[in-house]
Amino acid sequence: MLQTGADELSYEIRGIVKKAEQLKKLGRKIRWENIGDPVQKGAKLPPWIKDIISELAQQDETYSYCHSKGVLETRKFLAAKNNALGGVQITEEDILFFNGLGDAIGKIYQYLVPPARIIGPSPAYSTHSSAEAAHANDHPITYNLDPQNNWMPDMDDLYMKVKYNPNVVGILIINPDNPTGMVYPLPVLERFVEIAKEFDLFLISDEIYINVTYNGSRAYSLPQYIDDVPGIALKGLSKEVPWPGSRCGWAKFYNKGKDEEFDKLCTTLENAKMIEVSSTKLPQLAIPKIMGDPRYTDHLFSNNVKIGKRSKLISDILHKCDGIYFNATSGAFYNTIVFKEHVLNEKQKLKIDNPEVQKIVDDWVNQSGILPDKRFVYYLLAAKGICVVPISSFCSDLRGFRVTLLEDDEALLTETFTGISEAIEEYIAS
Ligand SMILES: Cc1ncc(COP(=O)(O)O)c(C=O)c1O
Repeated sequence: MLQTGADELSYEIRGIVKKAEQLKKLGRKIRWENIGDPVQKGAKLPPWIKDIISELAQQDETYSYCHSKGVLETRKFLAAKNNALGGVQITEEDILFFNGLGDAIGKIYQYLVPPARIIGPSPAYSTHSSAEAAHANDHPITYNLDPQNNWMPDMDDLYMKVKYNPNVVGILIINPDNPTGMVYPLPVLERFVEIAKEFDLFLISDEIYINVTYNGSRAYSLPQYIDDVPGIALKGLSKEVPWPGSRCGWAKFYNKGKDEEFDKLCTTLENAKMIEVSSTKLPQLAIPKIMGDPRYTDHLFSNNVKIGKRSKLISDILHKCDGIYFNATSGAFYNTIVFKEHVLNEKQKLKIDNPEVQKIVDDWVNQSGILPDKRFVYYLLAAKGICVVPISSFCSDLRGFRVTLLEDDEALLTETFTGISEAIEEYIAS
C-alpha cells in the first residue's frame, strides 16, 4: 500500500529518543546530545527579543491571517537585506513564507514533477533526503561529503552522478552543514554553480545556519555566488534567533524567468501556500523588528562565540582519539564523528553496570542486521547515558554518529565529550 520512498521517512533523530526514554525509566540518567534545539538545551532569548514578541502579542492585527506569501513588509525587509549583499537581486515577490523550514522542504520536493530528482549531500539532514525520496518513490540520490577532506563535497562524485543521471534537475547544498558542521569556501560553492550550468540544473541552498559561524569562518549565501543559475535559498528562525517553536521559515527564489520548469515549481509552491491561506504570522511580524535591531548582530556574535568555544573544547578532547576521523567544525552546531574502516565489529561492548539496562541493550544489539554504528550508539547510551544519533541514519554508508554543540555548561560538556572519547577507546579495544 505504501510507496518505496515511504521507507525513507523514518526519523532516527527522534527514534533514538524513544530508546533513551526506555532507559531513563530504569533510572539511567541521559545527556541529550541528539536534538538540535538550542532552547531545549537551555538557550534563552534576550529580554529585548521577548519584549518585541510580547508587544506584538498585544496587537489585534497579529491574530488575523496574513498574505498567503507572507507579511508584505517582512518580505520587503528580507528582499532589501538580500539585495544589500550585492549579489543577485530580488523583490518581495521572490519570497515565500512557510510554517517552518521543514514545511518548505516538504513542499518543494512534493511538488517537483515526478521523475525529477534533486541530488543532495551524504551524510544528509534527513528531512531533505526523506522528503526527496518519498517524492521520487525511490532511494535518495546523493553526493559524498568526505570526512578525510574536512567534510568537503566530493565534486568528482557529484559530477559523475549528475552526468549519468538525466533525471537530476537540481543540487541541494546545506551550508553551513547539518550534520557535519562544515562551512563551504567560495571556490567549492562556485564549482556547484559550474556543474549546474553545464547540466542545466538549479540549486537549492539550505542556509538555516548561515549566521551560525565561528572561529574565523564565514558563510556565503546563494545570491553571492549563484550568478545566473536559477536557485532557491532556504532560511528560518529556528536556529539563529533561536526560535524553533515559531514554525517560521522562508524560501527566496533567484533568477526566475530563466528556466520554464523552475518557474513552474516556484508558481506551484505559491499556489500550494494559497490553498493553505496563511503561514504563522506573529514570527513574520517580529522578523524586521528583531533582525533590524542593532542589538541583533551582537546577539548572533555572542552566541557564535559560545559555540566556537565549545567546538574547540570538543576538538581538544576528540582529536587525540584513535580509530576515528575527527574534523573540528566551523558552522552550525553539530559534529559528525566517523569510525575508521574496519575498526568496528560485532563483538565490541561497553561495560554496563545496571543488569536491567544490560538486558534491554542486549535485545537491541542482537536484532538481525543492526548497523555497527547503531550498535555503538546503543552501548554509549546504556553505558554512559549519552544520547547521540548514528550517522547511518543520515543517509550515509559511513559509520559514526552526530553530536551537538549546544551544552552551555562547560564542565558538563567536558565530562560528556571525555565520556565519548573513553567510550570510543574502550569499545574499539574490547
Ligand atoms: C539543515 C536544516 N534545515 C532545516 C531544518 C528545519 O528547520 P525548521 O525548524 O524551520 O523546520 C533543520 C532543523 O534542524 C536543519 O538542520
